[in-house]
Order: sequence, then C-alpha cells, then structure tokens
Amino acid sequence: MNGFLKTLAGHRMPIPPIWMMRQAGRYLKEYRDVRETTPNFISFCLNPEKASNVTIQPITRFGFDAAIIFSDILMVPWALDRNVRFKPNHGPMLDPLTDAASLDDALLANVVVKLAPVADAITRTRSLLREDTALIGFAGAPWTVMTYMLEGGSSKDFNISRQMLWNDPAGFNKIMDIVTQATIEFLSLQAHAGADALMLFDSWASAVPSWHRDAIVNKPAAIIISALRARGISQPVIGFPKGIGEGILPYVDQVGVDALGLDHGMDIRWAHKNLPINLPVQGNLDPISLLSGDDAMLANIDDILEVFAERPHIFNLGHGITPATPIANVTKMIAHVRQAG
Ligand code: CP3
Repeated sequence: MNGFLKTLAGHRMPIPPIWMMRQAGRYLKEYRDVRETTPNFISFCLNPEKASNVTIQPITRFGFDAAIIFSDILMVPWALDRNVRFKPNHGPMLDPLTDAASLDDALLANVVVKLAPVADAITRTRSLLREDTALIGFAGAPWTVMTYMLEGGSSKDFNISRQMLWNDPAGFNKIMDIVTQATIEFLSLQAHAGADALMLFDSWASAVPSWHRDAIVNKPAAIIISALRARGISQPVIGFPKGIGEGILPYVDQVGVDALGLDHGMDIRWAHKNLPINLPVQGNLDPISLLSGDDAMLANIDDILEVFAERPHIFNLGHGITPATPIANVTKMIAHVRQAG
C-alpha cells in the first residue's frame, strides 16, 4: 500500500506523503500546452486521454504520492443539464437556477451516462500510474456546488444562495437533495472506475451561517458517505469543509470522514489538540506562500511538520495552487518536506 493510503488508514509515515490541490493546472507549461488544444473546458474534462495526460503531468514532474483526476466539481451541474461554461479569465458561468421547480429529479437518471468519460479517464490513469502513486477521485459538496448553480458563477458573498436558504427552505432542500443524489452517483462511478480515495470539496462552507451548518454542510456530507458505504464502496473519504474553524469538530463527529483537509486559516495547534489523535489530517500551507517561496515558507512548513508529527499527516496546501506560482518554489517545498520529515 502506498504511503498516502497508509496514512489515510491511520498510520503515521516517517516522511509525510505529499500532493497539492490543483496540482494539474495553469502554473504548469505542459498543462497550458495540452489545455490549449481543447478551448471548451467541459469538453476537455470529458476527454479521457487529455484528462489522464494532465493528471499525470505533476506526478512525472514532481513525484507526488497522489494524483487527483483532472475533472471539476461543476461536472455535476453540467450532468444535471445546467448550462455550464468557462470564460477565459472569468471563471465558470451558469444560467442561474432561480427556483427549485426548474430542476427535475428525472435528470438524475442521466448523470452516470453523462459522466462516464470521467470513469474512463480514471481507469486509464490508474493503469498508467505506478503502483505506489495513489489516484484520488473527487466531487464538490452539495452546498458549494449549489452556490455556482444559484449564483450563476463564483461569488464573493453568496447572497442569492443564503437568501434561498432563509426564505425558501423547501426549494433549497429540494435542490440540495437532487445535487446530493447526483454527487453520490458521481463518487460511486469514480470509485468503481478505480479511484483509490475520494475527496469531498466544500470550498465555500465558510459562507454557510453557523445556525445552518449541521443541516447544510454536515448532514449532506454524512448522507453521501453513508450512501457510498451502503453501496459497498470502501475507499477512504477526505472531507474538506473550508474555512469553518471550530466547526471541524462537529463535522468530524457527524460526517464519518476518514480524514480531514485543513485550510490555511486553521490554527494547527488547536486542530491537533482537539481532533482525535488517530484522525489523519491533510494540509495546510498557504498557497500564496509559494509565490515567494522564501524562508518564511520554509519556517511554516517546519511548523506544520512539527505540530502534526505525532499523527497521520498528509502534507498539502490549504487551498489550490495559483497560476502565478513559480515551479522552482514547488520543487523547493517538496524537497523541504521530504528532507525535514
Ligand atoms: O489538479 C487538480 O486539483 C484536479 C483538478 C481540479 C480542477 N478543479 C481543475 C480546474 C479540481 C480538484 C477542481 C475542483 C474545483 N473546481 C473546486 C474545489 C476546489 C477549490 O479550489 O476550492 C472548485 C470551487 C471548482 C470550480 C472552478 N473550476 C472554478 C471556480 C474554476 C475557475 C477558476 C480558475 O482558476 O480559473 C474552475 C476551472 C478549473 N478547474 C481550472 C482547473 C485547472 C482552470 C481552468 C482552465 O484550465 O482553463
């Protein structure tokens, strides 16, 4: 078993396994070169050969312990027939879903068919990766995916989503149920295709009012994981409820994750002290520290390694790497983790 999967199973490795969120992305020239050949982002994600190619690029270049399949959390709204497109230098754009009546649960029947190319990409990638490199499948958590569907793209304050949450709970819950079911299908398909572990990204969990957190962040994640287990899917699941601070304690209690991704806002000493000692954690270097890659970055790495030395720990960033990051700083980070660890 590779060190990444051993860590997820609760073992502490002498050198922590390492990978980076968004490791296949625009900071890599080889990514930009392949990406350029298919301007439509959804079509690019649905091309198993190209998706597999860019998934493996950061493994070839850096020797990470895990690859994450090249896909997107917005493949679920796309599979639910929402109009999803990506405008260069703008990010995702969707026709905003304004009421629950416009989303029919009959759409769920098509999700597995529409997302089959992601399964192909996973099977292909698994066969090309070395045995000791793990392959991660992923999906967005329902709240985070819903914010894109309701807002029509990225948002600063998530006002439309929060307004629906307060003013139309029945409509909100109906959409959330459909997205939750679609997410179960998407993750099941990836597990059956050969993903060794799964990750659930709740990137905008911090925008959920704490009053609603149990119902909107924790409960859907718990439903997804128990549905996977009921289907006999045993791959470990990493939960990433970004930015919820002390909310990680009830999240861990209620959700049933095998490991927890920590963002860079998280106080690592507090997390270590308060989380169960056998719970694997992943994180949490600020991706922006990689822009300079100086001694402050190295000091932060040392601190993370020291604080988590007594528990299963996967080294990662606190969020995705940004396009402007110099490759040399990534190399420096990896060398430092592997030599200090
Ligand atoms: O290497 C990897 O991490 C695997 C691939 C991956 C992508 N998106 C590829 C991608 C993963 C894990 C994601 C998840 C994702 N997508 C999240 C959750 C993780 C997080 O960052 O919080 C979210 C919120 C999205 C939605 C999304 N997709 C946005 C907001 C954007 C545009 C922002 C941007 O950086 O342009 C995307 C597009 C996207 N997904 C890109 C990549 C590499 C960039 C688009 C391009 O290459 O043209």
